[in-house]
Amino acid sequence: MTLSNQRVDRGFVGPMPALTRRSDEAYTEFMSDTRNALLHAHWKNMMGIGDAAMKAAAQPIAHTKAGVEGARKVIRDNTSIATFLRVKRTCQEIYKQRIIDSYNLRREELERMLDEADTRGPGSVTWDPNFVYPDYATVDIHISPGGYTRSKFSGLLYDYGTSIFYGGANAGDALHARLAKETATPQDGKIRRILDIGCSCGQYTTELKKRFPDAEVIGIDIGAPMVRYAHWRATQNNLDVHFAQMPSEDLEFPDRHFDLVGCHILFHEIPLEVIKKTLAEAHRVLRPGGTFVLWDFATATADNLGYGGFVGLMDASDNGEPYAHNYVHCNVENLMAEAGFSLRARPGPKAQMHDRVCDKAA
Ligand SMILES: C[S@@+](CC[C@H](N)C(=O)[O-])C[C@H]1O[C@@H](n2cnc3c(N)ncnc32)[C@H](O)[C@@H]1O
Repeated sequence: MTLSNQRVDRGFVGPMPALTRRSDEAYTEFMSDTRNALLHAHWKNMMGIGDAAMKAAAQPIAHTKAGVEGARKVIRDNTSIATFLRVKRTCQEIYKQRIIDSYNLRREELERMLDEADTRGPGSVTWDPNFVYPDYATVDIHISPGGYTRSKFSGLLYDYGTSIFYGGANAGDALHARLAKETATPQDGKIRRILDIGCSCGQYTTELKKRFPDAEVIGIDIGAPMVRYAHWRATQNNLDVHFAQMPSEDLEFPDRHFDLVGCHILFHEIPLEVIKKTLAEAHRVLRPGGTFVLWDFATATADNLGYGGFVGLMDASDNGEPYAHNYVHCNVENLMAEAGFSLRARPGPKAQMHDRVCDKAA
């Protein structure tokens, strides 16, 4: 065995347990750099080429099997875009499998780590070992082995995996810190209780707690592995945050309970019916005058397809995003209004990923 493959206690990478072998870490770092050099740097250019090729071939953007096959035919002869998409998919497959394989090498130790944290503070976690997942929540979303719900290490995989995905840009939860800082607040300024819906490993949740240290902050997620890891992660930082396994469409909180409800990149990963029920639940659990903040892709409009265009079509099909098209082609602002919210006007142009802020009537 070479030195790089020895299994020794390798500590942490930021808040995350390090991968088991130095070679795993070197490999995933290489994948991160590869993604930065080959994918991030050329993303916009490639998507522009894809859009132009689709237009020239009069191929409509349709999130159906036939639509995806049509798009593949259009780009088959375009070596640069075909290579780009192949590299993107292969990187995603390789680094995720490597991370989960690496953590599995010390399965018992990591399971014990999560078990011990379950009953330790600060904060808390609740989850149900007999929870029955709805089918939509059992897919290998983002081609992550085990998805969010079927591997005990889904939370660890999400944390390490997104650190590679973001190519270093989210070190120290920098992106989530910015979201928390920019999160709009109720007009009357009162914030005692905050809910983060679809919290994953709790990065937005904990950054909200840092911004509002006197508030009670709760993160919910349908995946038990996600909230267990989120809680472990928060205890590492001594943060008094609560996590619970709970579906967003059926929140176990009383009416009028929260002042602020936030939700970051959940909606494009759930079916449309679940989005609608989640909005109704967010409205129910907010107190009069409370605020709901949704962070997600811009939805497609007649003038601007955004993620609903070529980029979204190929990303959804290559990256295991089975519900994204329903979201990008819904008018989420209208759905918010239908749930009873009034939308606040937001300044500036719509970014690819942006916030919608809405209030429950006071
Ligand atoms: C892309 S991640 C969200 C990322 C996270 N909000 C952040 O800021 O990094 C989507 C999460 O939503 C969770 N999820 C999916 N369906 C859900 C539902 N119906 N209710 C609650 N959480 C759900 C998944 O388990 C996953 O952890």
